[in-house]
Formats: sequence, C-alpha cells, structure tokens
Amino acid sequence: MKAVRVLEYGGPLVFNEVPAPAISRDEILVKVKSTAVNHIDLVKASGKVRQILPIDLPWIPGHEFSGVVEQIGSDVAAYAPGDAVFGTSDMGAYAEYLAVKPAVIVRKPSNLSFEEAASVPVASQTALEGIFTHGHLEKGQTILIHGGAGAVGAYAVQLASHAGATVIATASGDDEAYLNSIGASRVIDYRKAQFEKVLQEKVDVVFDVIGGDTQARSFLVLKEDGHLISASQPVSPEESAKHHVSGAMMRLEPSGDGLGKIARLLEAGTIRPDVATVYALQDVAQAWKDIAGNLPGVHGMSPSGPGAARRRSHGKIVLRVA
Ligand SMILES: NC(=O)c1ccc[n+]([C@@H]2O[C@H](COP(=O)([O-])OP(=O)(O)OC[C@H]3O[C@@H](n4cnc5c(N)ncnc54)[C@H](OP(=O)(O)O)[C@@H]3O)[C@@H](O)[C@H]2O)c1
Repeated sequence: MKAVRVLEYGGPLVFNEVPAPAISRDEILVKVKSTAVNHIDLVKASGKVRQILPIDLPWIPGHEFSGVVEQIGSDVAAYAPGDAVFGTSDMGAYAEYLAVKPAVIVRKPSNLSFEEAASVPVASQTALEGIFTHGHLEKGQTILIHGGAGAVGAYAVQLASHAGATVIATASGDDEAYLNSIGASRVIDYRKAQFEKVLQEKVDVVFDVIGGDTQARSFLVLKEDGHLISASQPVSPEESAKHHVSGAMMRLEPSGDGLGKIARLLEAGTIRPDVATVYALQDVAQAWKDIAGNLPGVHGMSPSGPGAARRRSHGKIVLRVA
C-alpha cells in the first residue's frame, strides 16, 4: 500500500510503498478514504517530545480517518465489509489501509463526506471531554473558550452552546461572524484586547487550547470553584490553589461512546465540521507547512500574538487518500 512515513526525527516525509497491515481476530481492516492533520503529528515527528511521546521509527503519522471496512477479524460482529466508518487510531492513518479496534470507530454520518468525517474525531472528542468530563460544564453556566475558531475550539463552542451554556470565545477578529454563527454570544479579538480587561463578569469554566500567557491570565476571570481545563499545557497547581479553582491539563481518551454522541449531533445538523483545505496524501509536506509556523501553545510556547502571521482560514487540513 502507499503510505507517508517519517524515517528519522526531524526528517522529510516519505511517500512510497509499504506492506499493508494484517489484522488480528478483534480488529478491522479499513480502506482509508481520508485522514486529517493534527499538530501532534508534527510535534511527534520533530522529536521535541520524544521523552514523553516517543514514536517507533519509521513512523506513519495520522491519528484520525474515515474509510470503508475492507475486512473484519473473526471476533468482530458489529461491522461488515462495505460499512462507511470514521474514528481515531494509534496506528498511522496517512496510509491506504489501517487496522483498528472496533471500540474507537463509529459509522460515518450519512450527511458528511469522507473528507468532512476525517476532520471530526480528534478535535470534537477533545472538546467534548475537555468541557464536560473535565470542565463539568452545565446548562446556564458561562464558559470562556480560548482559540474558539480553531479545530478544537469550534467544537467546544458548538457543544457548549448546544448544552445551554453562555459561550464567550477568544479568536482573531476576522472569525467573529463565524463564531457567532456556531453559538458564541461574544467574541473577544485576542489581537486587539486582553480578555481579562474587557470581561465584566466572571466565568464558570475556561477551556484553553492556547497555553502560555493566555492560560496564566485565565485565572483572573474564573469564579471561585471554577474549572480551568487546558488541552495544550499543564495548569499550575499553585495558581489554581491561590485562585480557589480546579485546574488540569487533559489528554484525549478516544471512545466509541464519545464519537457516537458527536456522530448523532452531526447527523442531526446540530453541529457541523469545518474543513479548511483538502490535499492529496502525496502533498502532505505542503499541508504540514501550512500549519508548522503557527502551532499555538505547544508546551507553553505561543508564536501567536499581535502582529503574528495567521493561517488563511479556520478549520482542519484533510488529506485525501483514496
Ligand atoms: N490534549 C489533547 O488531548 C489535545 C487534543 C487535540 C489538540 N490539542 C492541542 O490543542 C491545541 C489547538 O489545536 P487546534 O487543532 O484547535 O488548533 P488550530 O485549529 O490551529 O486552532 C488554534 C486557534 O487558536 C487561535 N489563536 C492563536 N493564538 C491565540 C490566542 N493567543 N488567543 C486566542 N486564540 C488564539 C488561532 O487563531 P488565528 O489562526 O486566527 O491566530 C486558531 O483559530 C494544539 O496545541 C493541539 O496540540 C490537544
């Protein structure tokens, strides 16, 4: 099969022929239609986090996919060849075939294209777990979502709004109309204003995908007993105690249950995916270039700020495989 591989840390992406995976009795072989690019793909490939997130080289990147079931293991009853599915994977999805466990996949919503479906699993489940499992967001509460127009942030905005919360988002000013259209009642342009200076009211939950100074200033806008949940860097226990809030960094734990909830909301049109660009798999190097210069909050380093360059549009970058 054709696949994209990283042969050495920091090395180029190599597109060529590799052996297709074999499945065990409890696995499914999926013919991949599309996959999507996540920051973590670039971060892992760079070797900068090899102590905490090592990879086995050569490594096929890609943590999410959409595709069609090609073959099922003898213990698999829930799916049959021909089913259209989507989900997350620990194995690399930048490839024509993928062996996956049924527990982390779900049937593709019929109203989504394969390209749209591939953009969903990581960002949507990160938002779902971040704001509800860790942030304990409830109807009637107020949440501040940093990076609201980004891949994760846009799901957080939609899910929080659907749950009956008041949603305030920080984002580039250009994204205000988009954010209003998906449920944000207020948008603060992070390039022009400091959110802690313009917010009159305190919030119950802050969901932070940015980190750095944005996270540090978030303590100032939280109610006592509020929750500061970050998807991008650890939250200081000392600062959390000082401000009488609970703070935690989350790590996505994908589940068929969570993705099933997301799939139902997508199917009903309650939430929608956001695809920025679709590249052919062999053009992956360009896709990585598009986001490499703008990795917000990777372990506390934020290249974003006033005057920083920004991507042309919000949404996920998808790779078309077949
Ligand atoms: N912990 C986990 O399990 C987990 C899972 C998934 C993702 N993540 C992490 O979550 C982070 C976000 O991922 P993503 O895919 O949503 O990224 P993304 O699509 O690039 O979105 C980032 C958004 O943040 C905005 N932004 C940049 N600086 C900002 C600031 N100072 N204040 C407010 N908004 C700002 C950007 O807007 P402009 O482009 O207009 O500047 C962009 O819309 C990444 O660090 C990723 O690694 C963690």
